Amino acid sequence: MAPLPLVRVSLLVAFSVFLTLVLGFGLPAALNFVAGCFGFPGSSVTECVVVAYLLFVLYVAMPRLPRGTVKSEGKGVLITGCDSGFGHALAKHLHKMGFTVFAGCLLKEKGGDGAVDLAQMHSERMKVLQLDVCSGEQVEKAVEFVRANLENPENGLWAIVNNAGLSTFGEVEFTTMDTYKQVSEVNLWGTIRVTKAFLPLVRRARGRVVNLASMYGRMGNALRSPYCVSKYGVEAFSDCLRYEMKAWGVKVSVVEPGNFIVATGILTRDIVASTADKLWQEAAPGVQQDYGRTHFDNDMALMRSYCGSGQKDVAPVLEDITDAIASRRPFTRYNPMEPYWWIRMQVMTHLPAAISDRLYF
Ligand SMILES: NC(=O)c1ccc[n+]([C@@H]2O[C@H](COP(=O)([O-])OP(=O)(O)OC[C@H]3O[C@@H](n4cnc5c(N)ncnc54)[C@H](OP(=O)(O)O)[C@@H]3O)[C@@H](O)[C@H]2O)c1
Repeated sequence: MAPLPLVRVSLLVAFSVFLTLVLGFGLPAALNFVAGCFGFPGSSVTECVVVAYLLFVLYVAMPRLPRGTVKSEGKGVLITGCDSGFGHALAKHLHKMGFTVFAGCLLKEKGGDGAVDLAQMHSERMKVLQLDVCSGEQVEKAVEFVRANLENPENGLWAIVNNAGLSTFGEVEFTTMDTYKQVSEVNLWGTIRVTKAFLPLVRRARGRVVNLASMYGRMGNALRSPYCVSKYGVEAFSDCLRYEMKAWGVKVSVVEPGNFIVATGILTRDIVASTADKLWQEAAPGVQQDYGRTHFDNDMALMRSYCGSGQKDVAPVLEDITDAIASRRPFTRYNPMEPYWWIRMQVMTHLPAAISDRLYF
């Protein structure tokens, strides 16, 4: 489990001090008075405040509480998008932990580096398969491959990790409908397609579904609408699935990484350059004229500046995905991200938009 971010701990301490002062300076008396005005027995309010506070502390401290882990031996995990980035590193990490890994690679049949690297481990527990999450046919073949290679198909497949994804950017008026569809085809429909196909096996194992969303599945940002739309969809799908799967004993978790651009292949300077050309060329003349080349170039410079940014080490993401797979009591949501993004996400999801918009836009 990733250590608690310093800022989260600082917030907890600050909140504790704040509450101590408030409690010490007579909040209970004030609440008792209000309760009394409404005809309730005033004396119980103090206890309620203290219990609420303890629950809050427990909630914030929870990641540190040991929750037990399941045995990895004999358990299979399918991961999509193992050619590079989180998926590739996760495949190796889970293999090291003793899981049998079914590493879906987009470029296995084309001899992609990531697939070759995993295959060269020459391990019985590292099974590399061709898997384009946009292809119904390949997904069905993957189900057959996994079923045929499980130690005991009757026990099902322990977990699937919907990791395959791509990112793009551009203001709404510069983004074509095709782009919106292409991004969601991988990030959202790919996730749904793979999940639906593997659920019968996962249900049998009373196992896990882990979906890679993003901090941009919880909050929007300028220039990121195609990506945000797809990741908000992943969040919605995961929530609905979680309610349904409760009856089957399957746990559904969403992992919402912050910025790990520098550590993965999700956004490179080449991608920014080619996307910029495409955005400008495909924009309607009226849009080009209204926004102007200077404004557009500034946007692209901003995106270019993100290329070398973010956390260099993917360990926090790997630890959270691993927790979702291996913990006896996985969390619903994981937020491996830098303090800046964690605070921004809390502000944007918990405060009125009138306040968060003023702070960030
Ligand atoms: N890196 C971050 O900062 C960050 C932040 C939040 C969330 N995420 C999410 O984390 C997940 C992994 O991304 P990453 O950062 O590790 O980026 P990455 O290095 O680009 O990995 C994504 C992988 O998915 C593969 N892929 C693309 N289309 C596919 C398809 N149709 N079928 C199967 N695989 C496909 C890619 O293959 P090709 O490279 O060959 O296209 C790539 O290997 C994504 O869902 C992403 O949205 C990343």
